[in-house]
Amino acid sequence: MFSRALLAAALAAVCGSVHAQVSNCARNYTVVSGDTCDGISAKENVSTYQLATVNNATIDAGCDDLFVGESLCLGITGQDCDVTHVVVSGDNCEAIAQAAGTTLDILLANNPNVDSDCSNIYPGEVLCTADDIIVVSSGSTSAA
Ligand SMILES: *[C@@H]1O[C@H](CO)[C@@H](O)[C@H](O)[C@H]1NC(C)=O
Ligand SMILES: *[C@@H]1O[C@H](CO)[C@@H](O)[C@H](O)[C@H]1NC(C)=O
Ligand SMILES: *[C@@H]1O[C@H](CO)[C@@H](O)[C@H](O)[C@H]1NC(C)=O
Repeated sequence: MFSRALLAAALAAVCGSVHAQVSNCARNYTVVSGDTCDGISAKENVSTYQLATVNNATIDAGCDDLFVGESLCLGITGQDCDVTHVVVSGDNCEAIAQAAGTTLDILLANNPNVDSDCSNIYPGEVLCTADDIIVVSSGSTSAA
């Protein structure tokens, strides 16, 4: 029955299906062996914040639950920052912003996971270094 199918779809969405997919995904990605969240972010030009936020329904806070073959979304259409910098030891936000041709304020706005005093960045973290502010919301998932 149609209504039963709808209910099942709704339940699967709420419960977080293994095959959950983000609607309006601009860039799909399939997890391969050896991937980590920051590793995917670095090779695919997606910020640590954006990857976590868009895939909030499927990736846990510590990114301990990736599995080979898992479908992720790297960015939502219209909210997709693909200009990035991988933090190295000794980096500071001021210098990262300057090197990227953006401002500290825009850098902090695009990476809400970074403290206002930039004390919590770490080597391997990927920052969005776009020169305009890109607001990223959590991906809404639907059952596949
Ligand atoms: C991403 O995957 C979904 C589900 O398979 C598909 O509908 C969408 O067109 C894909 N987007 C891109 C940009 O390939
Ligand atoms: C990531 O960005 C760099 C620098 O713009 C570019 O050379 C590279 O091709 C990009 N990689 C992907 C997967 O988009
Ligand atoms: C993920 O969702 C939870 C619950 O809605 C929220 O508390 C958390 O801040 C979100 N995390 C990210 C990275 O968006």
